[in-house]
Amino acid sequence: MLIDFHSHFLPAIDDGSRNVKESVGILDIMSQSGIDKIIATPHFYCTEQTSDRFIERRDNAFEELKPHLKEGHPQIGFGAEVLYDHSLVNYDKLPDLCIKGTKWLLLEMPYTDLDDKIIDGVEAITNRGDLKVLVAHIERYLNFTSMKRLDRLMHLELIGQINAKSLMSFTSRRRCMKLIEKGYVQVLGSDYHRIGRGDITIDHGFDVITKNKKFDDFAEYAESNGRKILDDEPLDSIL
Ligand SMILES: [Fe+2]
Repeated sequence: MLIDFHSHFLPAIDDGSRNVKESVGILDIMSQSGIDKIIATPHFYCTEQTSDRFIERRDNAFEELKPHLKEGHPQIGFGAEVLYDHSLVNYDKLPDLCIKGTKWLLLEMPYTDLDDKIIDGVEAITNRGDLKVLVAHIERYLNFTSMKRLDRLMHLELIGQINAKSLMSFTSRRRCMKLIEKGYVQVLGSDYHRIGRGDITIDHGFDVITKNKKFDDFAEYAESNGRKILDDEPLDSIL
């Protein structure tokens, strides 16, 4: 079962798909790639809107898309890509932004050096007890922070996702493989925004990873993690 945990295919809600036609096109690509389930994770910025307003907008975007869905399209789940902000530590509505039916929150880190204040804040979120953290595209932060800082983040009680697209170029592939080796990566996402932007479906990501003998069982590992996340079960030896 291929589950894409990170995407922006809902129409006209963020910087992803611009309209219903494009959303259907993205879902067509997903079904051709054998994706069974996709979680819609539009961007959420707490400084710009309330969680109630965000969920209302997400519901409306889906209602617009619904009549155009085809048999064979992946099942759709709902979440958010929540940009970290210090105020989220005490934001009582934060669990509303988790992947629907679970306690898992897709958290995007700020694009800056991950200093102690930020990491302490993420730790405080993981200690709230009302949600669990899945960090979005962890490979990306290495453009802004050191591996040492990322190590500190990933040693908190949380799990990580990488983007399939990052496995396609030599330098970022090496970086992703290192993160997988360190045990930081539990699931993949496409982070699919728009058609023609060069976004890559997760099946291609798995192909690249499992070609490496060291990681030939990674697809099964990620699948099992994915099922557990959606069933809201604990992940063995992680959380
Ligand atoms: Fe994203």
